[in-house]
Amino acid sequence: MHGKNSLTFYVNKGTMQIITTSDGSHTLYLPEINEQYHSINGAITESEYVYINMGFNYSPGKNPRVFEVGFGTGLNCLLTALQAEKSKRPTNYISIEKNPLEKKIIEKLNYGNLISLEAQSVFHKIHDCKWNEFVPVTEYFNLHKTEGDLIDIDLHPFENCDVIYFDAFAPDKQPELWTPDIFRKIYRIILPGGLLVTYSAKGEVRRQLATCGFEMERLPGPPGKNEMLRGIKK
Ligand SMILES: C[S@@+](CC[C@H](N)C(=O)[O-])C[C@H]1O[C@@H](n2cnc3c(N)ncnc32)[C@H](O)[C@@H]1O
Repeated sequence: MHGKNSLTFYVNKGTMQIITTSDGSHTLYLPEINEQYHSINGAITESEYVYINMGFNYSPGKNPRVFEVGFGTGLNCLLTALQAEKSKRPTNYISIEKNPLEKKIIEKLNYGNLISLEAQSVFHKIHDCKWNEFVPVTEYFNLHKTEGDLIDIDLHPFENCDVIYFDAFAPDKQPELWTPDIFRKIYRIILPGGLLVTYSAKGEVRRQLATCGFEMERLPGPPGKNEMLRGIKK
């Protein structure tokens, strides 16, 4: 439980706390499962490194289609939208979320304030977007926030993805999402040459992804983690 410098909210399934990570950016902490949405060694730092640098920027697609597991605070989405604008790369971003956050929590997150005025405005647009349809957020970024459960959702409408951000809660907290069935389901919606990145470096995760057909790489991790994983669909 984080007491000092945290802000507690009462939500459907218990409590949720906003805490400040090492780079000054917020994350959310769920006391019930003792789990954070991002690394306590820097939420923005981790997201920028794992998903933008090792995923989005590494993907060769000119017009990438990104699929994210776990929309959460919208931080990965925000950083991708900013990068798509910066690199003038038209991007379609699909993100699935089982438990969308309440507005009272989103409003307190400091990502926009920390990054720039532009980021603040994009962050609001991202959260104001309707769910379950494609919405243009900026000139180079369209967003489809999908409310649903990865376990039973039909992913056929989201085929032909270039990049997957696999950002579920950790395998020991949420083993039902780190299974061969789920990885096969994800594998089917990726284009040949497309890739999956995740902060997890667990050997079991790497082996299961390899069994599904991914060519796996272990990469140096973000601050506080030795390694992360990237898989390419051959
Ligand atoms: C590690 S957090 C994601 C952080 C997020 N990518 C961000 O940038 O803030 C994991 C997210 O997965 C969501 N989630 C958990 N189980 C899910 C499921 N079965 N289907 C879809 N989303 C799920 C959680 O509600 C949570 O928002």
